[in-house]
This record gives sequence, structure tokens and C-alpha cells, in this order.
Amino acid sequence: MHENPQLNEHGELTHLLSTEGLSREIITRILDTAATFVGITDREVKKVPLLRGKSVFNLFFENSTRTRTTFEIAAKRLSADVLNLDITRSSTAKGETLLDTIDNLCAMHADMFVVRHAESGAPYLIAEHLRRMGLHDIHVVNAGDGRHAHPTQGLLDMYTIRHFKQAFEHLTVAIVGDILHSRVARSDIHALKTLGVPEIRAIGPQTLLPRELARLGVKVCHDMAAGIRDCDVIIMLRLQNERMNGTLLPSAGEYFRVYGLTQEKLARARPDAIVMHPGPMNRGVEIASEVADGPQAVILDQVTFGIAVRMAVMSLLAGREQTSGVRDS
Ligand code: CP
Repeated sequence: MHENPQLNEHGELTHLLSTEGLSREIITRILDTAATFVGITDREVKKVPLLRGKSVFNLFFENSTRTRTTFEIAAKRLSADVLNLDITRSSTAKGETLLDTIDNLCAMHADMFVVRHAESGAPYLIAEHLRRMGLHDIHVVNAGDGRHAHPTQGLLDMYTIRHFKQAFEHLTVAIVGDILHSRVARSDIHALKTLGVPEIRAIGPQTLLPRELARLGVKVCHDMAAGIRDCDVIIMLRLQNERMNGTLLPSAGEYFRVYGLTQEKLARARPDAIVMHPGPMNRGVEIASEVADGPQAVILDQVTFGIAVRMAVMSLLAGREQTSGVRDS
């Protein structure tokens, strides 16, 4: 594998695998391109032809509501042909390997694979396979791999923060909960650092915070009240029970009492703080309904911005030669 498998020999983005290793320039370009698409995510506006004639294959080996659907909407708004492989009915259920499945879809003239997989590294494996096969015009977008990375979620989170806070350089951002198992937290932390956020706090019980946080320049805090004091942005995370081996917590009720975001705890943050959550949300476990549905929550805005951000990523990867026509369409 090359040093940065996301970039081609000209330093251009050819796959989106992680926010780690993406330059500030590339992230900003994606956010700026997304901004040009926000207007056309209105259903009344016609599609743009940036991916006309291209085939996007959604390969979701793990459940998804938001990511799979918004990738499909985004690809259709770019005029691509979208194919959602039903993994449970595909030949992977008969023992076909992931790379044999990929080879067959390449033979059907796939232009892009959007991949979610429970195994960390699966999208990297596909990207490396395409490189070895000399298939440099086929792109891979990581839609979440194991506990490793979820780069489009990280980018739509950055878009949301920039939308509500305008700049990153003066922000204090708290990420609360199960960071150990969270690919979203890793993607957010790398992007926040690259965009110049001076203070990132990780809040949670010791059992759910990975040791690498200090190395990443993140402040670790086990006290929720102290951790969210004067924060501008609070990112709440779901307890990833499906990725936990054994019991890392006493009970969901005890977790909510200590780390659940209630209106009372939120009052310690800045009055204009925004509350984010990648979804799916567990009300009464990591967040109270009064907060999730309250005026400081931007959780559904994140979902809507996700369409424009995914349009930006796909158009920059596969519609590069036509990007200049976006505004005139
Ligand atoms: N945020 C997120 O990845 O949600 P889904 O699992 O519904 O795609």
C-alpha cells in the first residue's frame, strides 16, 4: 500500500478512506464544494449531471439508515446510476470473498464503491486491490469500517460545525461517550485537529476512552460536568454495544445518570453551544429527549448536510473534470 492510499500520484483525492492524512486544503475544498450543493439539495431543484453515466455501487455489509440513504440520494442528485447490493441475498452469503465480489462488480463497469463493513480496513483492502489491478478510475468511499473510520460522517460534522460556528480556531469541542468503539469519534478528532480546533475534550468512563487520546492531543475527562463547561460544541455518541466484548459499564441507567446529556448538564456549556449526534440515538441512555428535541440540537441538520457533503465527495472523486460546471447547472 502507498504512503497515502487516498491520493493519486498528483496528490488528488482518488479514494476517501479516512479523515486522517487529509490536508486542511482537501477538507476545506470538500466543505466548500458541499456548500455549493446545499441549495440544490432542495427537492424542487433539478439534478446536476456531474456523474451522468457513472455507476455507484452501495455495498453495505452492516446496517445503516442515514449513511446508505443519503449516499443514494446524493448519487441520484448527481445523475449517477445507483445500485444497492442486497448483501444478504448476494453470493457473499454463499462464501464468495469480498474481492471476488468486487472483481465481478468491476466487470459490470462499476465506477465507485461506497463500502460499509464491520471489519476495520475492508475499504482499504478494496482500494489496494483496485490499485494492484490497475483500475485507477474506480473509486472507494469508506462509509464506516469497524471501529476505525467514518470519514463522510466526520466531514458532515465539520460542515455542521462550520455552518453554525463559522470558524474552528476558537472552539472548544467535547466528544462524550463510547469513544473506544467509535469510528465517528476518530474521524471527527482527526478533522478537528487538521482544521485547527485548539481544545478537544473526550468525556466518558475510563473503560470507554482509548489510551491513544493523549497522543492525538485530546484532553481526557471523566467528570461530565467539568468536561462540558464552556464548550461550544458537544458531540454525543451512542454506546456501541455490538462492538463491546463483555461488560464495560454497570448499567444503561447508571451511564445516563453520570454521562447522559440532560438540560441541567447542558447549562454548563456556552449558552449558544450546539449539540450533535451522528445517530442512531438512544434516548434516555446517552441523551435526554428534552435535549435531543431542544433548540440547541442540530442533529437533523447533520443528516441534511450529509447529502451535500456526500455529493461533494463523490463529485470530487469521479466528476473532477466537470466540477467547474456545478454552479451553472
Ligand atoms: N451516522 C451513521 O452512520 O448512521 P447510520 O448507521 O444510520 O448510517
